[in-house]
Amino acid sequence: MAISIFPVTPDFMAEISDVDLSKPLSDADRADIQAAFIHYSVLVFPGQDLTSDQHVEFAKVFGPMEQNINTYADEVKKFRIDARIADVSNLGDENEILTKDSRKRMSGLANRLWHTDSIFRQVPALTSLLYARAIAPVGGRTEFADMRAAYDALPDITKKCIDKLVVEHSIFHSRAKIGFNNFTERERASLPPATQLMVRTIPETGRKNLYIASHAMRVLGMSDAQSEELFDELTQHATQPQFVLSHRWRVGDLVMWDNRCTMHRGTDFDDLRYKRDMARATVSDIGNTVELSLNAAQRSAKY
Ligand code: OGA
Ligand code: MN
Repeated sequence: MAISIFPVTPDFMAEISDVDLSKPLSDADRADIQAAFIHYSVLVFPGQDLTSDQHVEFAKVFGPMEQNINTYADEVKKFRIDARIADVSNLGDENEILTKDSRKRMSGLANRLWHTDSIFRQVPALTSLLYARAIAPVGGRTEFADMRAAYDALPDITKKCIDKLVVEHSIFHSRAKIGFNNFTERERASLPPATQLMVRTIPETGRKNLYIASHAMRVLGMSDAQSEELFDELTQHATQPQFVLSHRWRVGDLVMWDNRCTMHRGTDFDDLRYKRDMARATVSDIGNTVELSLNAAQRSAKY
């Protein structure tokens, strides 16, 4: 039986059933899921029951996994979950709820700012696959913004102005925004800033979209103040209700999104009271967006 696809809107987010992600996919299912991923950007697979190995195996259908973000933190001595998977929970090593001022909790709070995963790495993320093991009874949703639709709706003059801009991103910039500055030199050196295009084109569709996040530090060639103003303006535009969908989690949901053309953020929940246990496998994109566009320009200049 083929997978069933139920769109949430015609072009953004779909629910998928009649597939068991714990098993190897048939060629037909893989192709259907890949096509749905490109079309809808956010896919929800309810009712999955996955071990870490199965989660990783499904992620690897889309490309190589990136190094787990938790491994860069100095205080992580042991991993509560499989080290290939990012621990997006509010839990400590003994599965206890993190205390108010724990570093892991502070770092996790930055997920409540609009962002796309790993834009701050030289090679950013193609897709993140977030799996719900435990959820809060209220709150703790994840919101997604369609950056293709947001780009299309920009005035032509803005499109023209931003078309060739290059942005420097750093994970420490978004952490600083929530007042979390307490990083060691080793941590800072292990995740140096990276530059990315502000407008990128998705190769499979040829569609352009806005590529920004709360990690955005500055536009090359602009002052910090000018950059900040532009990021605020574009983020406000892109996160208007007509571009945003909100996902209410159920245990066993696996949600995957296209980090190239969406932003997301977690919403508030009572994290000192409820356990929310989410695990994220993250797949790398094919290269740095600036380098890929330079290579493409060089190739077309040759002919
Ligand atoms: C993530 C993330 C938000 C959430 O896992 O990358 O941003 O709602 N999560 O947990
Ligand atoms: Mn994220």
